[in-house]
Amino acid sequence: MSEYVDISGSSNLDEGHMKVITIGEREILLARIRNKIYAMDNICPHMKGRLSHGLLVGTILVCPKHGTQFDLKDGRVLRWTEWTGAKQVLGKIVSFPRALTMYNVISEGGKVLVEV
Ligand code: FES
Repeated sequence: MSEYVDISGSSNLDEGHMKVITIGEREILLARIRNKIYAMDNICPHMKGRLSHGLLVGTILVCPKHGTQFDLKDGRVLRWTEWTGAKQVLGKIVSFPRALTMYNVISEGGKVLVEV
């Protein structure tokens, strides 16, 4: 069962910037892109890279560890690692592509809420 948590105090981000917050046991990464706040797991589903150290290009987030790219509009994988050839094939067998967990963010009554 999900709940909405007030993140108004953490959502004051400059355009194109990211910030990590903790809600319970979860590390959640916030990003402001074109005046919209996105919330997602900070841990890469590939091999647990810290996405807050990655590169944000528009709505594309690039993991700093092996270059996996996620589209923050829905969390889908655009590229699963930057590996090529046999390494890429083996890598997909060992760790198959998985979308990034995204969290719904809404504005209500002057507050910014994230659904966790
Ligand atoms: S840990 Fe993120 S791409 Fe490997």
